Amino acid sequence: MRLTILGGGGFRVPLVYGALLGDRAQGRVRHVTLYDEDPGRLAAMARVLTDQAAGVPDAPAVTATGDLDEALRGTDFVFSAIRVGGLDGRAADERVALDLGVLGQETVGAGGIAYGLRTVPVAREIARRVARTAPDAWVINFTNPAGLVTEAMAEELGDRVIGICDSPVGLGRRIARLLGVRPEEAWIDYVGLNHLGWVRGLRVRGRDELPRLLADAAALESFEEGRLFGADWLRALGAIPNEYLHYYYFNRETVRAYQEAKQTRGAFLRDQQAAFYAEAGRPGLPPGAALAAWDRTRAEREATYMAENREAAGAGEREASDLESGGYERVALALMRAIARDERATLILNVRGRGLLAPLDADAVIEVPCLVDASGARPVAVDPLPYHAAGLVTSVKAVERAVLEAAASGSRADAVTAFALHPLVDSVAVARRLVEGYTAAHPGLSYLR
Ligand code: G6P
Ligand code: MN
Repeated sequence: MRLTILGGGGFRVPLVYGALLGDRAQGRVRHVTLYDEDPGRLAAMARVLTDQAAGVPDAPAVTATGDLDEALRGTDFVFSAIRVGGLDGRAADERVALDLGVLGQETVGAGGIAYGLRTVPVAREIARRVARTAPDAWVINFTNPAGLVTEAMAEELGDRVIGICDSPVGLGRRIARLLGVRPEEAWIDYVGLNHLGWVRGLRVRGRDELPRLLADAAALESFEEGRLFGADWLRALGAIPNEYLHYYYFNRETVRAYQEAKQTRGAFLRDQQAAFYAEAGRPGLPPGAALAAWDRTRAEREATYMAENREAAGAGEREASDLESGGYERVALALMRAIARDERATLILNVRGRGLLAPLDADAVIEVPCLVDASGARPVAVDPLPYHAAGLVTSVKAVERAVLEAAASGSRADAVTAFALHPLVDSVAVARRLVEGYTAAHPGLSYLR
């Protein structure tokens, strides 16, 4: 099996390669091609992977290229993990919105719309190139905003593109641990859009164990989502929301905390990563040093994840048990294995919903448990969402459709519509100012006229 990683110089690549190194099964990936536009980042990442592979027999071979068609030719799987506009772009997405008094965040609200408007044209072009150069390859999309970008790529690739995220699996695992249930044994009844979903139940041998957790305030407030949302609100919902819903349910508090922070998350990561890439790219680095620098940077990044949200919620520091990664790389590997070896697996993925989640249409990409095998990922039937959740999902899907439309038409008016329809943008006048601010800040949005 051959795997191509688009955004191959990206910071999370060693997570994926580490997972591949641990895979000894037949039909595993033997060749990884890293594609990136930035040769410096590519070289730094190649060093980290060399350090990871040291002493591992039969480690997958790694090649690096800046030529997209060369990267795609003959590949079986494409992981797309690009960041259009880089972390500078992310910082600007956050800043412009916060300065106008609305949430500035990577994937949620105005910031996510700006990021989507920059990314969709690039994702569509990649999808066309894959269709032409590697028509039989499966595309696993990590690129955010993951649901929207997956839907954009599906216009060309249909069900051969599958979006992934680590947050539903991380949430499911945290709930299972609290309930004393092995995650592999549990059916996690989760549905929504990417970064906008709810766990409504956790069934073990047919029995829903979630009510047991909802009844126990102490247990509820002992984990990340419990501390963010508070036991009372989780009980009112009768479900455990994805942590990203903190931006909706506590919008005022999160906006204020983000405005008061000394740096946005994007600006923090931009500085942190600049230091890492400089260090990992230094000439004459001894073996192991690039990996050590990466690992240090990763630990600091994870420990500070959503720090302002936790502060706004009075949630305190992250616990070690909450720090465990949701396993973004494990989801990717499990998905690839199920497809490549026809080993049936159940995974929460972003796929076209086939009309299973009312009132969304069949082409709308949703985040939902899927059965995966060699024929791809099939969403399972789910219970309907309650009105409040269906309403949010429908509003945000309408925004995503407006983004897809604006990216195709290149019309500023369409872009204004996308911002104005978002539940976290409280005025059409603000939507207009957001479009002005973002087009001024981002060269990647100069196509909007
Ligand atoms: C989670 C989400 C990703 C998101 C990331 C941001 O892993 O699932 O979609 O990109 O958090 O983390 P960061 O460290 O970049 O703020
Ligand atoms: Mn995600």
